[in-house]
Amino acid sequence: MNPVTGSPADSPQLFFGDLPLKTRFLLSPLAGFTNLPFRRMIRRVGGIGLCTTDLVNARSLLAGRHKALELVQTSPDDAPLSIQIFGSEPDFVADAAALLEERFQLDSIDINMGCPVAKVAGYGAGAGLMQQADETVELVRSVVNAVSLPVTVKMRLGWDEDSLTAPWFSRAFEEVGVAAIAIHGRTRAQGFSGRVDLDGIRQVVESVKSIPVIGNGDILTVEDAVTMFETTGCDGVSVGRGALANPWIFRQLVQWEQTGHWDPPGSFDDRMSLLLEQFEYLVEQKGEPKAIVSFRKMIHWYLKSMRVRPALRHTFQQVKTRQAFDEAIERVRAENHRRHHAGDIRVPVPSGPNAHW
Ligand SMILES: Cc1cc2nc3c(=O)[nH]c(=O)nc-3n(C[C@H](O)[C@H](O)[C@H](O)COP(=O)(O)O)c2cc1C
Repeated sequence: MNPVTGSPADSPQLFFGDLPLKTRFLLSPLAGFTNLPFRRMIRRVGGIGLCTTDLVNARSLLAGRHKALELVQTSPDDAPLSIQIFGSEPDFVADAAALLEERFQLDSIDINMGCPVAKVAGYGAGAGLMQQADETVELVRSVVNAVSLPVTVKMRLGWDEDSLTAPWFSRAFEEVGVAAIAIHGRTRAQGFSGRVDLDGIRQVVESVKSIPVIGNGDILTVEDAVTMFETTGCDGVSVGRGALANPWIFRQLVQWEQTGHWDPPGSFDDRMSLLLEQFEYLVEQKGEPKAIVSFRKMIHWYLKSMRVRPALRHTFQQVKTRQAFDEAIERVRAENHRRHHAGDIRVPVPSGPNAHW
């Protein structure tokens, strides 16, 4: 593909504290999607600097609940890994961080300050933390003090357009020892509407002294990432929905960085192979019967983004056996294998409670 601009002359290595990241291109957490099987698949495609788990409830983790433990599951090929926690009570969040450091395999801890979902933000966690300045800085300080791993924070620009507090928080977090900030360039009130505000991200970059800032939001192509770097001065970028739609995006970004050029995304058939690779990792994790059911949401989203016709993709909502699953896959392949994926990316915001992330 043609270069949009020359690749940067020097692309400094990104660190979270003492932790060197493999590249400046990170996977943004998408609860329910960026689970261990997805991360293993997309890391193998290449180019990822660091992945972050879905948000994990600090209290559930301390109580040893199954769901929390499943969310923090990892494997040797899933590194470097950041585990994202959320909560509103400093003691619980700090204790959960200490527990993670002591008992689990991870390289970094991320505090969620961006989740706008009512059951999280409504009790003062996630984006709710942005409404309490001093308490929130103390919560973050208590986490930093509880562990020796690097601690990062992910947030939105503010609660709404009248309170764009991310620059203030970022400065305060740097002072208490946070190793990096990831910033989604929208307010909580915005949900996913409108375009990401690059100017708002730039203000966060300008507010910190030396810690890296990761720009996030609406990156679907290499060109979008280049615009993010150039307009905001951010040190790294993170990609969420764009990585579901185009799992090659991180490899393309590394190619751009090294040569100024990059390969097109894979074909429809390549995409199907990656989808099946992810499914096999899921089978490894949960066993076949559970994997078939638990893959329904993921495959629905994939096939929708790949413009597979509704009746065909809905068959996966009913399949119960491996044989029926394989037959449905073959039907999708037979009908669509001539289609090429490049330039044909559709990125629906997943529906359900996460639609307002
Ligand atoms: C379905 C869904 C789930 C998400 N889950 C999380 C999460 O667990 N933690 C988090 O910090 N952000 C979460 N986000 C926000 C994304 O990480 C990211 O900030 C946002 O989607 C913008 O980036 P993108 O345009 O590259 O997707 C979620 C977003 C979506 C759409």
